[in-house]
Amino acid sequence: MNAAGVEIQVCEDAMTDADLNMLFDACVQGAEGLDAPGADAVSRWRVSGNGPESPLVLAVADDTPVGIGASGMANGDGLATLRFLGVPIEERGKGVGTLLESHLSDLARGRGYRKMRTGFSLDSRNETAARFLDKQGWIRNTDAGLRMWRNLNDLPEVEVPSGYSLRSFESGDEGGFVEVKNAAFSGEHAGGRDWTVADFEKEYLRSPFFRAERIFFAVCDGELVGTTTAWTAEFEGREVGLIHWVAVVPEHRGKGLGWLLNVQALHKLKEMGYEECVLSTNESLSSAVRLYGRLGFQVVTKRSTYTKLLL
Ligand SMILES: CC(C)(COP(=O)(O)OP(=O)(O)OC[C@H]1O[C@@H](n2cnc3c(N)ncnc32)[C@H](O)[C@@H]1OP(=O)(O)O)[C@@H](O)C(=O)NCCC(=O)NCCS
Repeated sequence: MNAAGVEIQVCEDAMTDADLNMLFDACVQGAEGLDAPGADAVSRWRVSGNGPESPLVLAVADDTPVGIGASGMANGDGLATLRFLGVPIEERGKGVGTLLESHLSDLARGRGYRKMRTGFSLDSRNETAARFLDKQGWIRNTDAGLRMWRNLNDLPEVEVPSGYSLRSFESGDEGGFVEVKNAAFSGEHAGGRDWTVADFEKEYLRSPFFRAERIFFAVCDGELVGTTTAWTAEFEGREVGLIHWVAVVPEHRGKGLGWLLNVQALHKLKEMGYEECVLSTNESLSSAVRLYGRLGFQVVTKRSTYTKLLL
């Protein structure tokens, strides 16, 4: 027992999945941008084992759960994961979160882990949680996922730099698109793995949004050297334009092609009747983030993961 009369207990089988899910739901109330892990994740986490060192634990006061923490310690890469840490709104501010966090950190440390990373990303609007993690020694990773937004008023003119031309997708460009995308994102963790033509077919050709005139290429001496797409997304319940897969091959950067391709795609979206546009990017793609800022996009959500050294 600690001073607040709260005890950490292993999550026993007696607690049903439904009870657990209710507790997770109660823990995300009032936490901006945080979702409950969902029934599938909860049943997977439970299988990870009971016993005195279980990574799924409850904070309990007077036989009532007042918080929950879940960690993952099966990575084999020396990195433990903090999967979830939550306290229902009426139980916050009493030290329960601190108790759960230090229990899970101690557990990982005791098993020989030297580092722990969050398995979730925190919305920057959730200032309470950011302050809490900071206080417990967690460090924000500088690869936040950013969602940026712009309305489609006051668009700059399309001006093609000399030596280049602009055209839309033609049948046979599938391989060229993949080469440009892979060359542009090579070495960028945020770009994911390299694509094959099959990936292009799946994401583009089979999409209900696919139309050749939505994909743009910058061309130099007949070679495709940059691309972007005027796509569609849902944003705050509205269908809006999306700037999708912006890529310029390294040899042709710094010549205004990123600007050109985006401006062209924004005009296309406006012509299609959209009034606003979003895009997803990553803080680590600094050139792209600067470009979008110059183009008038504003950051609307920023989601960060955190790391803690378990010294
Ligand atoms: C982001 C990316 C598309 C930008 O393409 P780009 O063609 O280099 O973009 P631009 O030329 O319009 O702008 C890039 C820089 O060149 C500068 N620039 C533009 N025209 C210029 C010119 N004529 N002369 C000198 N500099 C110029 C810009 O000011 C900008 O400078 P900054 O990075 O210091 O802010 C490219 O870097 C890329 O493909 N990166 C990897 C993939 C990626 O991050 N994609 C975005 C994912 S969301």
